[in-house]
Amino acid sequence: MTPAAVALVVAAGRGERLRSHGPKAFVTLAGRPMIEWSIAVLAQVPAITQIVVALPEGCEAPEGTLGVAGGAERSQSVRNALLAADPAAELIVVHDAARPLVSSELITRCIEALDQDGEWDAAIAATPVKDTIKRSGDGVGVVETPPRDQLWAVQTPQVFRRAALESALQRSEEELLAASDDAMLVEANGGRVRLVESLQENLKVTTPADLALAELILRESADAGGSSE
Ligand code: CTP
Ligand code: MG
Repeated sequence: MTPAAVALVVAAGRGERLRSHGPKAFVTLAGRPMIEWSIAVLAQVPAITQIVVALPEGCEAPEGTLGVAGGAERSQSVRNALLAADPAAELIVVHDAARPLVSSELITRCIEALDQDGEWDAAIAATPVKDTIKRSGDGVGVVETPPRDQLWAVQTPQVFRRAALESALQRSEEELLAASDDAMLVEANGGRVRLVESLQENLKVTTPADLALAELILRESADAGGSSE
């Protein structure tokens, strides 16, 4: 049997690049606050027994979830949510409220990939990169072109063994501030992180163009009689 999992939904960002009025996770997307798309999907996953949400100031926790105050940086929001999580849960599913197109199928595949054997500390959704990527130190001169067939764009959900995430979040404040995902902190601890292939469609709403695309995908899926859930 799959061990119980708690989902931590981080929603406390300001959404500066979206330039929305109010926090990004609560902007209206295809008829409901963006965060509610992810919550509805997470609530359908049988292994998930609790959903904890790291909230921006002045926002209420969606129905059926436990709300905690978010932190100034993403990793602090994860830490605050983890502190409130049911201590009995062995697996922790971290998800960005900014990825409203997540599917229960993807979440389940990540949980199963981690649960299969004791080999991994984390299983993270990721998609092969489409673009050729260059590295530049100064934003002008190209330093190198890493081979594209080895590059993966990382998403959420990211599923962790609880102990691995707890010790990852105890790394230095400097590393926590710089971390753009939680898996890199597990890697820094020597933990074993595996990829779970996902679709580009599980996009992160960052800019107004992303919001428009997410709206289009959700409305098309509703018109097709299905749902992204
Ligand atoms: N997040 C959070 N707490 C923070 C910063 C971010 O919970 N202090 C969450 C966001 O709400 C989002 C996810 O982390 O769901 C990914 O962050 P990002 O897409 O960067 O969202 P924002 O920080 O809100 O956007 P921006 O960087 O444009 O301000
Ligand atoms: Mg941000």
